[in-house]
Amino acid sequence: MENPRKQILVIFGASGDLASRKLMPALFSLKFQKLLPEKYAVIGAGRTNFTTGEFRIKMTESILSFSEEKVDKKLVTSFTEDLYYLSMDNSIPEDFLRLKSFLDEIGKQYGIGGNYIFYMATPPVMYEPIAVNLAKAGLTDQSEGFRRVIIEKPFGYDLKSGRKLNRTLHELIHEEQIFRIDHYLGKETVQNLLVTRFANGLFEPLWNRNYIDRIEITSAENIGVEDRGGYYDSSGALRDMVQNHLLQMVGMTAMEPPSSLDSNAIRNEVLKVLQSLQPIREEDVPKQVIRGQYTGSLIRGECMTGYRHEKGVDRNSRTETYVAVKFYINNWRWGGVPFYVRTGKRLPTRVTEIVVHFKPTPHHLFRRDLGKLSANQLIIRIQPDEGILLKFDMKEPGAGFNVKNVNMDFHYKDLANFRVPSAYERLLYDVMIGDSTLFSRDDEVETAWKFLEPIQKAWENNNSIKIFGYPAGTWGPEHANDLIEGEWLTWRYPCKNLADDELYCEL
Ligand code: BG6
Repeated sequence: MENPRKQILVIFGASGDLASRKLMPALFSLKFQKLLPEKYAVIGAGRTNFTTGEFRIKMTESILSFSEEKVDKKLVTSFTEDLYYLSMDNSIPEDFLRLKSFLDEIGKQYGIGGNYIFYMATPPVMYEPIAVNLAKAGLTDQSEGFRRVIIEKPFGYDLKSGRKLNRTLHELIHEEQIFRIDHYLGKETVQNLLVTRFANGLFEPLWNRNYIDRIEITSAENIGVEDRGGYYDSSGALRDMVQNHLLQMVGMTAMEPPSSLDSNAIRNEVLKVLQSLQPIREEDVPKQVIRGQYTGSLIRGECMTGYRHEKGVDRNSRTETYVAVKFYINNWRWGGVPFYVRTGKRLPTRVTEIVVHFKPTPHHLFRRDLGKLSANQLIIRIQPDEGILLKFDMKEPGAGFNVKNVNMDFHYKDLANFRVPSAYERLLYDVMIGDSTLFSRDDEVETAWKFLEPIQKAWENNNSIKIFGYPAGTWGPEHANDLIEGEWLTWRYPCKNLADDELYCEL
């Protein structure tokens, strides 16, 4: 692993949750692994009136609470010695001149040149003003070092606003300077999809319409909207999860082998998948998309609040907390193979997985009751209990031919020295070394919005499209099963342990 060049990281919105819960623990973990630059500093910027000393104390508390590493206090102290704080208002251009002087000062003190990364850990409305003010202050000009800007999703609200955000950013900075975080791409197991597919000769010949019946991708959460009701109510599951995380996973699952590991080679292949998604016509939305919203329920004697009664949510809200979509990819590899994706809050468990259902054998010699059901599925578990499960039929010992479906499973945790690094650790490191492979490119973001546009329009324009209630703690609206073509076929009902499938084990 290469060590990044010396640099300063500026975090806007440094007093917020993202910085405390994710960024600081991730930076600390990089320090622990000796992956930070030899010379570096971090400047937290925000409106809260912290001194550098107070900021260091707050960040120490964050690391102690949220770090996944065994925290060695001495190491935390040596980490926080390189943290600084500048109190500033992101909407005031003069404050960026103060930031510039501060960067010069810290840069001289550490002997760091002009390499800067700007992380916008702020609400999305601030992206444009911050970019404009950075550019006005000359902080995006790369003549004295690299200048990189990190932004978090949502990248817009729909196709129009997504394009506008890209246009505004491109007027100020080059695409190569922009790192759009989709934290799913930072997950070790999402990257492992590439290795599973392209390092093994075994899967690739089967990975197409001739052998695959359908593909199912689930990203389930058992939590509700928690304290994010205000944001979530204007977003919903389609924008919050499908536009980014789920479509990126579709891209990785369905892409052609890239010519190299170059960041554009990989992203070009993902883009081609997104461009090949068969558009869903507005009139077909009720047939191909099922939306739902969780209602109150009782689980093990505990009352679960319904979505409309969550803090910050409109009492008559029609925002979806669950969505399931069926679609096709129009290309030679996937023509005619249905893809089913679903995501939801307050489902029975937290699981993200990709299920490849292989076609059944053309003639059932042993299990005549199998019908169109296939014995074979490959399940790629993204989280938790990260791993891979292959299901196939085996003979039960004894007379006759009694056949049983069995599991062959590999768990990441069985690897020696197992620790799955956090997505933010990987992504921050990649920005530091300038590798944009795991970041969403402008054209990918716009193509994803374009695919979702008819669904958004249909929901906006047609009030008769139902939003189904589902009791908190269940697998979403039953109607989602109607999406799946074929008698007896349903979604897989995963469990938090990879191989304990088909059980509602956490209810
Ligand atoms: C975020 C969404 O992008 O991903 C959240 O905004 C969601 O609503 C989260 O809870 C899920 O991430 P993970 O890593 O817990 O699967």
